[in-house]
Amino acid sequence: MDLVRNIFGSTIGRKLVMAVTGIVLIAFVVGHLVGNLQVFEDPDRINGYSHFLQSLGPALWAARIFLIACVSLHIWAATVLALESRHARGDQPYAVKKWIQATVASRYMRWTGYIVLAFILYHLAQFTVGVAQPGSFKANIPHYVMKGDYHILGFTAVPAGTEVLDVRSMVIRGFSNPVVAIFYIIAIGLLSVHLLHGGESLFQTLGWRNHRWERGLRRVVTLLCAAYFLGNLAIPGGVLAGILK
Ligand code: HEM
Repeated sequence: MDLVRNIFGSTIGRKLVMAVTGIVLIAFVVGHLVGNLQVFEDPDRINGYSHFLQSLGPALWAARIFLIACVSLHIWAATVLALESRHARGDQPYAVKKWIQATVASRYMRWTGYIVLAFILYHLAQFTVGVAQPGSFKANIPHYVMKGDYHILGFTAVPAGTEVLDVRSMVIRGFSNPVVAIFYIIAIGLLSVHLLHGGESLFQTLGWRNHRWERGLRRVVTLLCAAYFLGNLAIPGGVLAGILK
C-alpha cells in the first residue's frame, strides 16, 4: 500500500508511471506497425494475422483493458506533472529560459497527445467497430478464404480454408478516401513528434541522458521516430499512390 502511495503520490513516482506506461504504448504502436506492414505481402498474411488476434477472445480483451489502463495512467500522470510544474514556475523567476523551453515542449506534447487520442477514437470507430466511414462498415467488407496456413512461431495459427474478414480490403478501402488518408498521415506525423520528445524524456527519467550520451541518444531517437513515421506513411501513402490495391 505504501509502495502504491509512494509511486502515485510523488513527482518521481508519477514520472516513473509516465515512463513505464510510455514504454508499453511504444511497444504497442511499434508491434502494431510491424503487423500492419504485412499488408504489402500476400493477403493471407494480414488477414490471417487479424483473424488470429480476433480469435484470442478473452486474452484480446485482457490486452485491451491493460492498454486502456496504460493510456489513462499516462494522461493522468502527464496532467498532474504539468499542473505541478505550473505551480513551481512561480517560485523560479530566474530560470525563465529553461521553463520557456520546458513549457513549449510540454505544450506541444499536450496538444499532440490530445490529437493522437482523437485519432485513436476515430481509428477504433473506423477499423475495430467499423462504423466511421460509409462504404467501410464491417458488414460490407467481403470475407476471404485463406489460401495457405498462417503460422506464428512455427505453429499454425489459422489453417488454410478458414473464412476470415478481408482486413486488407478494409484498410485499402478506408485509405482510398484521400481525406481519411491525409488525416492519418497528419495524425501519425503528430504521434511521431510526440514519440520524439517522449523518447527523450523517457531517457531522462531513466537517468540515461547525460552530457556524454545526449547527442547520440537524440540522433537514435530521431532516426527511430523518422523510421516509425515512414513505416506508417507507407500504408495510406501506398494506397494513394496506387501501389496497394
Ligand atoms: C497506417 C496506420 C494504421 C493502420 C493501417 C492500422 C490498422 C488497424 C486495423 C486494420 C485495426 C483493426 C484490426 C481488426 O479489428 O481486425 C486496427 C486496430 C487498432 N489500431 Fe491501428 N492502424 C494504424 C495505425 C495505428 C496507430 C498509429 C495507433 C495508435 C496510436 C493504432 C491503434 C490501434 C488500436 C488501439 C486498435 C484496436 C486494437 C483492438 O483492440 O482490436 N493504429 N488498426
